[in-house]
Amino acid sequence: MRAAVRETYGPADLSSVPVFAGGFINFGYWRAIDLAGPITVDDRVRSQQDMYRQVLDAAGPLTGRRIVEVGCGLGVGCALALREYRPERVTGMDIHPQQLDRARRANAELLESSPSGLRFIRGAAEEMPFGEGEFDCVYSVEAAQHFDDMVAFTQEAARVLRPGGRVVVASFFTPDDDPDHGARLASHLETFADGLDIARPVTLVTDALTRAGLADARAVSIGPDVWQGWDRWLSDQWKPGTWPRNFLKVYEQGDLDYYVVSATRPS
Ligand SMILES: C[S@@+](CC[C@H](N)C(=O)[O-])C[C@H]1O[C@@H](n2cnc3c(N)ncnc32)[C@H](O)[C@@H]1O
Repeated sequence: MRAAVRETYGPADLSSVPVFAGGFINFGYWRAIDLAGPITVDDRVRSQQDMYRQVLDAAGPLTGRRIVEVGCGLGVGCALALREYRPERVTGMDIHPQQLDRARRANAELLESSPSGLRFIRGAAEEMPFGEGEFDCVYSVEAAQHFDDMVAFTQEAARVLRPGGRVVVASFFTPDDDPDHGARLASHLETFADGLDIARPVTLVTDALTRAGLADARAVSIGPDVWQGWDRWLSDQWKPGTWPRNFLKVYEQGDLDYYVVSATRPS
């Protein structure tokens, strides 16, 4: 595990920072929220739940299926998946042992009431502790920007999916392979400068999915429904020009976008 990942999701506990809320740690999908009026904490939680719904809707029917979330954080998105999409079982996997402790605490009641429906397992995106074809769906929400090796992740996703299964990943990537994106992102955003986030072209992900044997790899930009809302939410607490507000800036200058990337294992 890289040092920045170990610190951010260990002692620093990013989920406790008030700009995140409800145990989620993602920028949010804001289409259903009125950005003109005041934004409440409930709106903020809704935005992060809606990010999960974007991903899970893109996975196809999940009722009665076995699904795994890669980089599950506190597992509140796993609980949403179980409640709203009725899979047979959700596996939350994360590289960080402290995140898994938090996930087990946050979901203690559900783990007790639904012991066969939810489990949390430690593992890395690049080396998943699962057998071939174990899952109908592999999904990930705002974790792929941290993965050390995107090609290894796509190969692992292809391996653990059954034929016909789907992989869906939501995260931020550069829109093309211009080599200057990385330096510009590092100059505006400390998470890129300190190595927590890695700048990678979205085409690297779709190409890697295809090379891993998956079909119909595609990336859909959801940036218009992410960055404005995230910035509007931050604007009550952070001044323009401070680093988290630079996410909107790098999006507007074409250095970064937010995508839902998906592919299918051929039957
Ligand atoms: C920004 S949080 C997102 C958590 C959750 N998906 C959400 O949206 O609330 C990223 C998570 O990815 C995990 N992570 C980072 N690198 C990983 C890797 N290589 N394999 C698995 N998990 C990883 C971190 O420990 C952290 O819990």
